[in-house]
Amino acid sequence: MKILVTGGCGYIGSHTCVELLESGYEVVIVDNLSNSQADVVDKIKTITNKDVKFYQEDVCDKKDLEHIFTNEQIDAVIHFAGLKAVGESVSKPLMYYRNNLDSTLTLLEIMNNHNCKKIVFSSSATVYGKPHKLPITEDFPLQTTNPYGSTKLMIEMILNDLYASDNEWSIAILRYFNPIGAHKSGLIGENPNGIPNNLMPYIVKVATGELKELNVFGNDYDTKDGTGVRDYIHVVDLAKGHIKAIEKVMQEKGIDTYNLGTGKGYSVLEIVNTFQKVNNINVPYKIVERRPGDIDACYASTEKAAKLLNWRAELELDEMCKDAYNFVSKNKE
Ligand code: NAD
Ligand code: UD1
Repeated sequence: MKILVTGGCGYIGSHTCVELLESGYEVVIVDNLSNSQADVVDKIKTITNKDVKFYQEDVCDKKDLEHIFTNEQIDAVIHFAGLKAVGESVSKPLMYYRNNLDSTLTLLEIMNNHNCKKIVFSSSATVYGKPHKLPITEDFPLQTTNPYGSTKLMIEMILNDLYASDNEWSIAILRYFNPIGAHKSGLIGENPNGIPNNLMPYIVKVATGELKELNVFGNDYDTKDGTGVRDYIHVVDLAKGHIKAIEKVMQEKGIDTYNLGTGKGYSVLEIVNTFQKVNNINVPYKIVERRPGDIDACYASTEKAAKLLNWRAELELDEMCKDAYNFVSKNKE
């Protein structure tokens, strides 16, 4: 069974390639390396001791994709390729709409032409906006507050329309909560350039001394200790969720949407404290103003994925904090 992984050199894509290879799938990666490095391919090979085919191409390019689908007998696609920085999407909306929508439309057209109608798509919990209650189930109303989130919601709509027009398609939409952590080997993980926007990469850079202290965005939220609560999920658990989703689209036609989270909410201070404890390192922080647009709390109902995909996250917060630090410590320069 051959799976095309778009954005397979990225953070979640690379971990998913490892799980796919270890589950016996053949993997073909297409990535333009706009937010990743080519050496990730070798790292995936080292971890799994298996071969991977890599095309350094842009998913928006019809000719390049056509070439891949002609060369390879692709059975199904996992579509990670996309731009993902919320703040940047507000300042460069056209770039986000162009890249995320164009890549998806091009991919779907070429898949259709080659009669490859099985796809797993990376959506985000961001499509729930500010949830009216918790935990969040997949049938909650959807709303977005930034262009990045809007691209995810639009792609979900495109996929629903596509299935409505042709019931031969088999589509799984995965709404990720907050992926953190890294592969145990320390070979692949997340280490954004510059000043990170997200909590765990920021904490790690404070721990390694690259940044002075963490700014905790607000301690007056309606949560256990006043700081924001999120559903953090180990990226390896998340990757395993994709294997279950691929099995599902292989088995039956249809379209369905699943939350991939742990169902547990942790506050910013709980994350900081756990990180300090398991890594035995100090993370200085100060409380600052709320970040505009942030919500109090967000965590998933995991029942649908458990029931229909037979998948649940297994790794605990200790493991997430250890593995995140292990990766960055091993890859400092
Ligand atoms: P990432 O940036 O690490 O990986 C995305 C990969 O796609 C990168 O390697 C990039 O080079 C590639 N890419 C981007 N545009 C491309 C194009 N036009 N053609 C070919 N390759 C292209 O991001 P990630 O964290 O691994 O996220 C993967 C997917 O999951 C994204 O669609 C993201 O929006 C979604 N998602 C991520 C999170 C998160 O917190 N990381 C949460 C929810 C959803
Ligand atoms: C981010 C994305 C969102 C995406 C989600 C899951 C942004 C603005 N939003 O949101 O679109 O769906 O991840 O991947 O990027 N925090 C601090 N200090 C920091 C950074 C964060 O206190 O330096 C706090 C935040 O206020 C929040 C929590 O930590 O309470 C988590 O923040 P972050 O990692 O950015 O994730 P989300 O806000 O959930």
